[in-house]
Amino acid sequence: MNDIVEKINKLKREKNAVILAHCYQNVEIDKVADYVGDSLYLSQMAAKTDADIIVFAGVYFMAQTAKILSPQKKVLLPTLESGCRMADMITLNQLREFKARFDKNLPVVCYVNSTAEVKSECDMCCTSSNALQVVKSMGVKELLFVPDTYLGKWVESQLEDVKVHTYPGFCPTHLQIRPSDILDARKKYPNALVLAHPECHSEVVKLADYVGSTTGIMKYAKESDGKEFIIATEKGVVDRLERDIKDKKFYLIKENIICPNMKINTLTDIYNALENEEHEIIVDEEISKKAVHCINRMLEVSK
Ligand code: 13P
Ligand code: SF4
Repeated sequence: MNDIVEKINKLKREKNAVILAHCYQNVEIDKVADYVGDSLYLSQMAAKTDADIIVFAGVYFMAQTAKILSPQKKVLLPTLESGCRMADMITLNQLREFKARFDKNLPVVCYVNSTAEVKSECDMCCTSSNALQVVKSMGVKELLFVPDTYLGKWVESQLEDVKVHTYPGFCPTHLQIRPSDILDARKKYPNALVLAHPECHSEVVKLADYVGSTTGIMKYAKESDGKEFIIATEKGVVDRLERDIKDKKFYLIKENIICPNMKINTLTDIYNALENEEHEIIVDEEISKKAVHCINRMLEVSK
């Protein structure tokens, strides 16, 4: 293991590369990562870095977002198969059909878990950590939200008097968590707080003590006076919390809450990507020019 870590670090120096890793990646990837975090943090780092190469240890839409923000840089995805099953639920045509069902003046917010094509025809982007802030910043009473119906519904539940029309997309990993799992876990660990990701079903988030993004959950667990936490999101979050916080207990809501696409990458894939400069992400220039507007608007309100 140390051998491959050293080889990757050497290549990073030689090629002026950085590695961005999402918290759902296999935890050993952190050994070579320059930045580890949630979608918002990683897109902020992708926009800021002065490296020549970005290796994105995450899923396809994340690498695509990095490329849109830094078109002059080489952005590499270690394995091309790592797509996002939610992002795949909405194509450009499906977005157009969805929009056509409503008043054409209604703005459209898209979750960052979407393709560049979809972003290119939306008004503003958001991640799970700033969705509420983004929607508030629009100052409207009605809007469309794609593709995650549950994140959209959660935002609506946090606002008085704003109608959010949601597209019927969802995350198959987070939807494995049922309300009965929360009730069972609370019985098993009566002193634990429940921390949930807003991609979970609305009936699940209603039962949580705290709802937030990957980083939001980790920050809450670190800063809370609580000593035990039931984590209702992907296993990578629990792996990192257990590694970093030794005096608290973390329970994954149930076994196998795993995003299979996030777990594809290994250290060997990262080494190969950097060595061969392979799986370069290319985004059509016209699409990129339109999509960057909706991502930058989000970064503006998240400073
Ligand atoms: P975060 O915004 O919390 O990083 O979530 C990204 C994601 O894909 C969750 O499934
Ligand atoms: Fe997509 Fe769900 Fe995986 Fe996140 S956890 S990358 S939303 S499939």
